[in-house]
Amino acid sequence: MCAARAEPETGTCADPESMKILPAKNTPVDTRNRPLRDLRISVTDRCNFRCTYCMPAEIFSEKYEFLPRRDLLTFEEIERLVRVFAELGVSKLRISGGEPLLRSHVDDLILQLSSIEGIADTALTTNATLLPRMADKLRKAGLGRLTVSLDSLDDAVFRKMNGDKLSPAEVLEGIVAAEAAGFTQLKINCVVQKGVNDHTIVDLARHFRGSGHILRFIEYMDVGTRNDWNLEQVMSLDEIVDAIGQDFPLIPLEPNHIGEVAKRWEYADGQGEIGIITSVSKPFCGDCSRARLTTDGTLVTCLFANSGTDLRGPMRDGASDEELFELISGIWSARTDRYSEERGQMTDAARQDRARMEMYQLGG
Ligand code: GTP
Ligand code: 5AD
Ligand code: SF4
Ligand code: SF4
Repeated sequence: MCAARAEPETGTCADPESMKILPAKNTPVDTRNRPLRDLRISVTDRCNFRCTYCMPAEIFSEKYEFLPRRDLLTFEEIERLVRVFAELGVSKLRISGGEPLLRSHVDDLILQLSSIEGIADTALTTNATLLPRMADKLRKAGLGRLTVSLDSLDDAVFRKMNGDKLSPAEVLEGIVAAEAAGFTQLKINCVVQKGVNDHTIVDLARHFRGSGHILRFIEYMDVGTRNDWNLEQVMSLDEIVDAIGQDFPLIPLEPNHIGEVAKRWEYADGQGEIGIITSVSKPFCGDCSRARLTTDGTLVTCLFANSGTDLRGPMRDGASDEELFELISGIWSARTDRYSEERGQMTDAARQDRARMEMYQLGG
């Protein structure tokens, strides 16, 4: 088992002690030569919103049974896995959900994770409604970056999209709390659905221009099985750039790094930048280095996967770090995923037949 990790120069086999100093050359690459670099962790399957495209209220009613506590990875289990992932070359973590701030003491988890050797970047995606009471704690725990989901500033439109839970004013209060806690350059994510919120995206741009935050528009995707996605509902990159550009001229920017999910544009008048996440019109599978860990400890190698590999079971059955390392490394090495590139060639029927995991399980 150790052979895959033998050091070419020394021929030695890493033991758990020496795992601390294993260099990035242990990073597995998949069948398309993509290294494992990012890990997105869903820390809860619960949310205080009921976004129509993610957890529609008709299905996620009061009676809906979320995962029982015993099925959730504990903080100790998450920390242990992140240490193994870090040995495998993961340097970027994103904590997500569901709504991650609903997981009790999530700041304690962030404190544990952000101090792991090799983890250079810890970010969290939230709907911001709990930030007024959590932002300070998150900052003190070492959280580096925050992404806030906000689909519209129009009260009726936003409420329609989030299951009539809260108003945009409450999200904006969360953003103010984040700023007061010292977070800068937040990313503000807006999922654009034609006929639902597309007419409000210019207002969002107007609001966040000059704020120092980066507004990103996400092309509506066919993630999960709970929304009736179809191509007509997708406002594409070109359409978004046209719509914003009419009021605020835009200039394209180079990517910050390989594998960046957003195409970047800056306002010609210097009022900041926006991003557009083009999973549908311009897929970015070619550089995808993201693994996902579900709330109950399943490793998933694509947002559109229909299954993953259980890591919780082996961990609770006594697997060693070495065995977890080999298991994860093997899964990544065999990875073939490129769903967004394949989507264009699939018939609607084939797409709909394909079982998929849900966004709130996968951490977005
Ligand atoms: P950083 O690089 O860490 O700043 O974050 P990011 O730019 O990767 O953005 P974030 O993680 O916030 O992702 C934004 C959105 O892009 C997600 O919520 C998803 O909707 C979408 N997204 C992220 N990763 C993938 C991916 O691997 N595939 C697809 N199809 N969509 C993705
Ligand atoms: N298409 C695009 N983005 C989505 N998100 C959730 N579901 C979808 C979808 N079907 C976004 C959320 C949040 C992030 C985690 O993913 O709005 O910003
Ligand atoms: Fe909650 Fe985010 Fe899903 Fe909306 S998209 S229901 S905020 S997890
Ligand atoms: Fe990565 Fe899958 Fe998204 Fe392609 S569709 S970028 S492989 S997560």
